[in-house]
Amino acid sequence: MVHLITEAVAFGWPFLVLVVGISFYKQAKTKDAATRQSMRFNTMVGLVAAFMLLIAVVNYRDNFGTSDGMLPISLVMITGLAFLMGIYFTNIGALMKIGGFMFFVAAALSGYGNWLPQVEGGFPPPEVKLDFQSMTSQQLADEGEKIIFGGLGQSKVQGAIGKGQCPLCHGFNQGFLSERAPNLWDIPARSKERLKHENYHMDDPGARDTAQTEAFEGSGTATTGQEYIAESHACPSCFVVPGFGVKGTNDKESPMPRIHKPPISLTIGELAAVDTWMYVREGVESPAYDEIASAYEKFIPEKDRPQASEGGDEAAAGGVLATGKEPITDLFMKAGCPACHTIPGIEGATGKVGPLLMEGSNAPKRLKDSGYEGRAKSVREYITESILNPSMYVVKDFPDNQMPKDFGQKLSAGAVNKIVDYLSSLEEGKDIPSLEEFN
Ligand code: HEC
Ligand code: HEC
Repeated sequence: MVHLITEAVAFGWPFLVLVVGISFYKQAKTKDAATRQSMRFNTMVGLVAAFMLLIAVVNYRDNFGTSDGMLPISLVMITGLAFLMGIYFTNIGALMKIGGFMFFVAAALSGYGNWLPQVEGGFPPPEVKLDFQSMTSQQLADEGEKIIFGGLGQSKVQGAIGKGQCPLCHGFNQGFLSERAPNLWDIPARSKERLKHENYHMDDPGARDTAQTEAFEGSGTATTGQEYIAESHACPSCFVVPGFGVKGTNDKESPMPRIHKPPISLTIGELAAVDTWMYVREGVESPAYDEIASAYEKFIPEKDRPQASEGGDEAAAGGVLATGKEPITDLFMKAGCPACHTIPGIEGATGKVGPLLMEGSNAPKRLKDSGYEGRAKSVREYITESILNPSMYVVKDFPDNQMPKDFGQKLSAGAVNKIVDYLSSLEEGKDIPSLEEFN
């Protein structure tokens, strides 16, 4: 409203000056005091009327063709104007009042129209959901690269990571040694070989000796290479690549998170994009979208399939995973900690690669350990050091070099602080703090 008034003045001041000027001229020529008195009153009315007309014009100019419901303001102004004119020009007062009434009705109707849901008219909001199904293989592969690494061309950048979070654990480049999880180079060919592995039991999931033997009851096992890849994502523990199981489970349980579940929650379309990238980048012909999608449908029951989020999740831009402004659960998800750590109170944080992060209790124990050679003196310092410099102290029974060493570059100082606040408040035997305190 304020900008309407200033604009009206900026645009129509000569008009207002004219109204006042004419009035003064007339007053100067009149001798009778009572007439002058009524002239001054008329000038005021005239000024208000002129001003309303200006606002109506400015508003009409600004909002013509937009659908934000501002246009009725013009009509309301013109209504008021017509009534005022009725007072001003007494001889045509009746006419003005009738005109004013008609405008009033028009304003009321258009105002009401704006309250109704807009069925037609205006432009539909831009479609932001990606239509994976109608993409070419190359387009799908490009989307896959963005999901895994955070951007096009990022697969060649050391440490790049996207919402799929796979590079936290997997190496992707030919000949690259990958200790945490199998290198995914050559997976299109290897997937078919896995079906013949003695632990795979393609015809009889019941014969499997793993924590979970079927993706869900009656799903059966994979029978093609693509189905093996889909099963690996949907049910990592159905078959555990020897040597890569959770420590102490004798390869019965996989540390890989289920990719369609929180925290990662990829949709079937996104999973198809990820897989297509793994074929296309090796120059191998990729199965058609529908074939990949039905492989996933075999292992992910309908109720567990995540839906594409409107607006599309922003892939980590510029390599920064989290800014610290996110609510605490989102912050952990974006940083990727839940893929490897179980964190009390954080839904979906059930990772088993690293220790349970009960840091209010763990940190004091680490600091007292005779093997501790770090620089931290307090719980907060210990947690910060563990995030920024994980090899400073390696927790007993866990291997070194598993936790990424570049969180210092990928998390803002605010994000690290917030993580430290939360983790330091977790203590054995104490209630989990309310998440709101950390949002
Ligand atoms: C927290 C670590 C972790 C993350 C994150 C992770 N994986 Fe895995 N993944 C593993 C481990 C460990 C294995 C081997 C054990 C097993 O068979 O489940 C594995 C196995 C696999 C296999 C089977 C490999 C083979 O040689 O048979 C595929 C395919 C795979 N992962 C793909 C992915 C993709 C794609 C992503 C990202 C969307 C991903 N993983 C995210 C840890 C991880
Ligand atoms: C790829 C797996 C992985 C990811 C991702 C990961 N960690 Fe770790 N983390 C580990 C492992 C393994 C250890 C134990 C070995 C060690 O001390 O380095 C560990 C140790 C720690 C410790 C020391 C725990 C203790 O009780 O002494 C803290 C704290 C920690 N991580 C926090 C985090 C946070 C916060 C994130 C996310 C920003 C994160 N980690 C992401 C694997 C991971």
